[in-house]
Amino acid sequence: MKSHHAALIFRYDIHYNLTSTMRPSFFHHLHPPTIPAEQARLRYTLGAGGISIFLVLVVILTGMLEMFYYLPAVDGAAQSVQTITFLVPFGWLVRNLHYWSAQLLVVAVGVHGLRVVLTGAYARPRRFNYLLGLFLFAACLLLDFTGYLLRWDTGVHWALVTGTNLVKTIPQAGSWLYNWLLGGDQPGQAALVRFYAWHVFGLSTVLVAVGAWHIFRVRRDGGIAVPPVELRTGRPRITRFELARREAQAMLWASAVLIVVAVVFPAPLAAPLTASPEGVLAEARAPWFFLWVQQLLKLGNPFLFGVLVPLLAFCLMIYVAWLPPQPAELGRWLPRSGRPAQLLAGSLAVFVLALTLWAVLRR
Ligand code: HEM
Repeated sequence: MKSHHAALIFRYDIHYNLTSTMRPSFFHHLHPPTIPAEQARLRYTLGAGGISIFLVLVVILTGMLEMFYYLPAVDGAAQSVQTITFLVPFGWLVRNLHYWSAQLLVVAVGVHGLRVVLTGAYARPRRFNYLLGLFLFAACLLLDFTGYLLRWDTGVHWALVTGTNLVKTIPQAGSWLYNWLLGGDQPGQAALVRFYAWHVFGLSTVLVAVGAWHIFRVRRDGGIAVPPVELRTGRPRITRFELARREAQAMLWASAVLIVVAVVFPAPLAAPLTASPEGVLAEARAPWFFLWVQQLLKLGNPFLFGVLVPLLAFCLMIYVAWLPPQPAELGRWLPRSGRPAQLLAGSLAVFVLALTLWAVLRR
């Protein structure tokens, strides 16, 4: 019986290889005729990678629509956001969808990254894809940060002043880097145009290009990490139609949640930023995904706590992929051999969440 199943699975794999040579389309590559059922099990993948793709699509579509009305000018940006919100038909919905899909993208990518670590999927042959993923995570944070700055209202003062000044604290290269990023020695029109260019072109292009590479690599690395074929005898497989059906269902659910959130909770809006924003600095707040950095900065030296510690956290996440021993048992949560990586990534996540919570409670 066992050998019969092994032969069947072997036939499927041969079939996949043959048909993929015959019809080498991108869709075919991502959706081979059949895949092991475990690779599409929600309680294993959490669907977080797929939901991230969906959110990227919504962010791009709504962002493109906003570009028809948004004005990257210091004396008109905040007003153009108000125009989108209050005057343009359904502008409020488009803006709220853009805002919420961007916030949920950071959450979904974070959950997806943690699931990858906690199921041991970061190890070879997926190590390179893990690094691509971390790069995508950084791109998502920078996209969120630059998008938030585009509001150019009093609500973005922390990011504009404290956030950008952190660059200046870097020894030797700080001032040069600041001028390069902001197009001058203080935030102004040149800075707004640069943030806009990075947001709608530079970082978005990187997200789409590296994102497509990441998804392509998933299959190149043998599909989502599950036990090898000899240990999978007797386990069911699902067809590409069933996979597409589940993906469509997940997208419908995600759309429903996103629409409800976007209708009920408006994206933030504040008074336009004036040349001398008196009294604003006292209440200046970081965007929620950098609240932990704002809290760290209260501990002392800005270069140490605002630049080196976050950089160290990122480097430790990279190091996870090299931490011995490399997980041998794939396809399940918390494999024993992945304990060091689970502890490291878990501690970093708790560290960031605890600082964020501390910042929220101290408000
Ligand atoms: C915009 C960001 C991202 C998108 C759109 C994305 C998308 C995906 C998708 C669709 C999959 C296959 C389905 C799944 O596992 O849920 C996947 C797998 C994978 N992703 Fe990502 N991902 C992103 C970020 C990340 C991050 C931040 C990491 C690492 C920290 C990462 C590492 C991986 C790895 C190693 C796999 C293979 C998992 C396995 O074989 O079990 N990805 N990604």
